[in-house]
Amino acid sequence: MTYQIGYFVGSLSSTSINRTLSKALVALAPRDMKFTEIPIRDLPLYSPDHDAAYPPEAQALKDALAACDGVLFVTPEYNRSIPGALKNAIDWASRPWGQNSFDHMPAAVIGASIGSIGTAVAQQSLRGVLSFCNARQMTAPEAYIHLKPGAIADDGEVSDDGLAQILTDFMQEFRLHTERVLTVIPRPSS
Ligand SMILES: Cc1cc2nc3c(=O)[nH]c(=O)nc-3n(C[C@H](O)[C@H](O)[C@H](O)COP(=O)(O)O)c2cc1C
Repeated sequence: MTYQIGYFVGSLSSTSINRTLSKALVALAPRDMKFTEIPIRDLPLYSPDHDAAYPPEAQALKDALAACDGVLFVTPEYNRSIPGALKNAIDWASRPWGQNSFDHMPAAVIGASIGSIGTAVAQQSLRGVLSFCNARQMTAPEAYIHLKPGAIADDGEVSDDGLAQILTDFMQEFRLHTERVLTVIPRPSS
């Protein structure tokens, strides 16, 4: 069994440390997890007016999530919550009513900040949103990454051994969590 994992990077920044973190997570994950980024940059702002006919970018998001066994959120903290671009993507994915893409989906949340609390508040905010969306969240371990300059290279290589271990453990637990959830709640396509 190979687990198809979609991942969101919550930042649109060209120098995003969370994108760098996502590269490290993909590189350190168990080999039977395959990753596809689900892009959020070109999504229009969600409105219920689109529910009858989603625009192509939003339909692509729905299709990508339908093909996933689990979803990983790698996000910065903006003003003690998640960036608007990520919330917009989640809103698209949660609709139309009755077609919530996150329903029973195995999910994990992680993020990096230049500040010492390492996106802790944003992650709590995101967890509330994902709860309402009925995603099956991994609750432990938590990972609030206070990223020091140079700890992860641009290509995702982690030079800090302690951090590499934390990220490796996180992804191993996410794999186990995904397997457990899918054992009792198989994805609709399986
Ligand atoms: C609009 C905005 C709001 C921010 N709010 C927070 C915050 O609430 N907490 C925090 O730790 N850092 C905050 N930051 C700093 C970010 O942690 C920092 O810019 C980080 O590099 C963003 O992640 P990224 O590089 O992946 O885009 C904020 C940055 C911006 C641009």
